Formats: sequence, C-alpha cells, structure tokens
Amino acid sequence: MHFYVEPGGKLTGSIRVPGDKSMSHRVIMLGSIAEGKTHVSGFLEGEDALATLSAFRNMGVTISEPQSGRLTIEGVGLGGLQAPQGIMDVGNSGTSIRLMAGLLAGQSFSSVLTGDESLLRRPMARVITPLSRMGALIHSREGCPPLEITGGRPLRGLHYELPVASAQVKSSVLLAGLYSEGTTSVVEPAPTRDHTERMLRGFGYDVQASSGSISLEGGGTLRGTTVDIPADISSATFFIVGASIAEGSDLVLEHVGINPTRDGVIRILKAMGADITMSNERDVGGEPVADLRVRSAPLRGIEIPVEEVPLAIDELPAILIAAACAEGVTVLRGAEELRVKESDRIASMAEGLTQLGIINTVHPDGIAVTGGKMSGGVIATHHDHRIAMSFAMAGLRASDRIKISDCAHVATSFPGFAALANQAGLRLEVADT
Ligand code: S3P
Repeated sequence: MHFYVEPGGKLTGSIRVPGDKSMSHRVIMLGSIAEGKTHVSGFLEGEDALATLSAFRNMGVTISEPQSGRLTIEGVGLGGLQAPQGIMDVGNSGTSIRLMAGLLAGQSFSSVLTGDESLLRRPMARVITPLSRMGALIHSREGCPPLEITGGRPLRGLHYELPVASAQVKSSVLLAGLYSEGTTSVVEPAPTRDHTERMLRGFGYDVQASSGSISLEGGGTLRGTTVDIPADISSATFFIVGASIAEGSDLVLEHVGINPTRDGVIRILKAMGADITMSNERDVGGEPVADLRVRSAPLRGIEIPVEEVPLAIDELPAILIAAACAEGVTVLRGAEELRVKESDRIASMAEGLTQLGIINTVHPDGIAVTGGKMSGGVIATHHDHRIAMSFAMAGLRASDRIKISDCAHVATSFPGFAALANQAGLRLEVADT
C-alpha cells in the first residue's frame, strides 16, 4: 500500500488522534495481572497494541472486543496467567516483546515470543542481560527474537543501572520485579517515559521514584481500575509539524497526553519558532492532558538539546521534516538509538530527505539537515510507520507529488491516518499499487 501526496494545502479544524500506544500496551499488561476488572477508554486499536491484547487473551485473560477505544479486562491476578497456546507473535511491536519478556520471565510456564521481519532484527540483549541477572533463563537468536523464556524460575530483585536511556528496558525490569523476591530498582542515565510507574500506581501498586532511581517490592497486588488513555503525542506530532510548516494552517489537536517525559517535541519545535499553545490543561487518571493549537510559523534551524532526545525519541523523524522547512541548519546528535527502531531512522530519513533535494549530513549518532526547497520524489519507508507519516507531511511544502512506498505499517500505530490527514487538509491518496 502506497501514499501519494499532492503538493500544497494547509491544516485546519479540530481533530483527535488515536490513543497513546505506550499506555495501550501497558493497560493490557497491568489490567491482566490485576485483581478484578479494569475499564479502559481511549485504547489504541492499532496493530501493535492489538498484538499485546491477543497475547494476553492467549494466556487466558478475558478481554472484551475493543469498541471505539473502550474495552474491559477481567484481571486474573499476579499469578493467574495460563500457559499460552503455541508461539506468541507480536508482529512489529518492540514494546510488546521487551515488556512481555520481563513479565513472562516470572511465570510458572515457558513461552516463546516472536515477531515480523523488522522485529527479528531488533536488539534484545538489553532486556536479556538484566533479566538473566534476576534469575531468568531466556534464549535468543544471537541477541534478537525469537525469545524462548523458560518458566518456573524464581526471580530475585536487582539494582540495575541502565546502560541506555530506554523506557522499554526500564519497564521490562520493573515488570519482572513484580514477580521477584525483594526490591528491584532501576537507575536511568536520563529520564524516559514514565507511564509504567504512573500506571502501576494507578493500579494501587507502590512505586518509589527519586533522583533517577525507580524501585518497587515484588509480590504485591494490583487492583483493577478505570483508565482513560489520552491521544498519543507521537501521533499528534505529524500534525503539529504539518500545521507548523504549511502556511495558513490553524489546527487544534484535542486531548493530547503531554506527560513531561514525552513532550520534548513541543519544546524542540518551539525553540525552532513554532507557534504552539496549550489550553484546557488537566489531569486524566494520573497523566497530564491538554488541547494543542498549532498555527504556521517561520521555523529556524537549531541544535537539538541532547537531553531532549529521549523525551522526543519517536518524534525525531517528523522533527527532521520541520528542519527541512526551517531557515538554516538543524543538528541532531546523541540519537544513536534511532538506528535500532522499526528501521534505522537516521538512514531512512537521510535517504528520503535527499530524495526531496534536502541537503543533509549523516553522523553515527545523528544528522544535520539544511533547510531548503523540497521537490517531489519517491520515498522508501523501510516498512517504518513513522517514516511514512513524516514524509506525508512533507507534501505540504513540496513542489511536486511525493510517492511514499509501502505504508501498510502505518496501521501499527495510527489506524485511520490517511482519512484524518485528509480531513485536516492534506491531499493524500491511498493506492494499492
Ligand atoms: C516505548 C519506548 C521507546 C519508544 C517506543 C515505545 C515504550 O523505546 O521508542 O516506541 O512504550 O516504552 P525505548 O524505550 O527503547 O527508547
């Protein structure tokens, strides 16, 4: 499936993008191992979160069919999961496999996790190393999936200093910590998204956090609760960038999660000159939420502060499209993690920007982009949803038509992207060939 984007247009009106992907995964996992029912609204019905949902159904948890983002999970308690039927395939989802590896390491039964071609190339040693130190036994294929997790192994708490700033690794260790004897603590080299910690507390589980260290005691109880998931700031980002770069745009994004470990994109774009205002700021079930109004503005190149990188990790591809439309050079460094996402996002973005005539210099840990005039062209997504949606927004400023090849993976995080983008003013056509 391909996208064809006609040049020009502006983004206007008021839209709500789908629910947060990170929170959607976590609510299925925590709701499943809680005592009692959990009622969810705002759940992201994208392929990644649905893969997590199927996996937990496969382990005996009753989860109602999502309807407009609403579902109910009948929690089975910390020790209530059952051995799955066969191998669990989580598709494209790094969050599913890494978080579930931690949770499954503490079960009485063995399990196997696998995924698609992209997932089979992604590094898993980062979770296998700390989990093994807790007592887990996990076999991989040279540090990549499939993961064979041996059940019935007693786990012990671990004090772990994360070598990379990764919320997935932090969460994997904390989930194993629920099943461990004693205290598990994780020290982060830099802050990363804290949805696991927040949501565990929402389920009544005590989690301590101070000066970069997060800890919990194993063997407690999670209590079923009600969770309202806000719109995903990572999905909103494509529209924030689009409205910023397309002259005459004035777009409102409703009910967006603005957790301070996720909102680096807003600070980065504002530093580039973007006109983003927040209103109706509120707390929704322990997560900050706001409506964002974005009006087009002239952008200038900046050096993206390194400390913002983990706080904007999934938004960097779209930010590079803003950089292509900015006056001067934007420099991104300290972002080597982008090389091990759904695709090598530094290489994918460099290739696409070059296709559109934008000068860029690639570094091992980043890229420098010189703003300029964008032509049309053909973009390869490397089967990466965020590359596809970032370049879709480039159409707003391109001089000619952009073809974006292989966009099927957009459905992993943003079902309905094309329709919503067209509603807001993009001129995007979906074609099978
Ligand atoms: C995620 C954490 C991030 C992010 C991913 C979702 C999560 O990965 O890129 O899309 O839900 O914990 P890392 O923690 O590996 O940086």
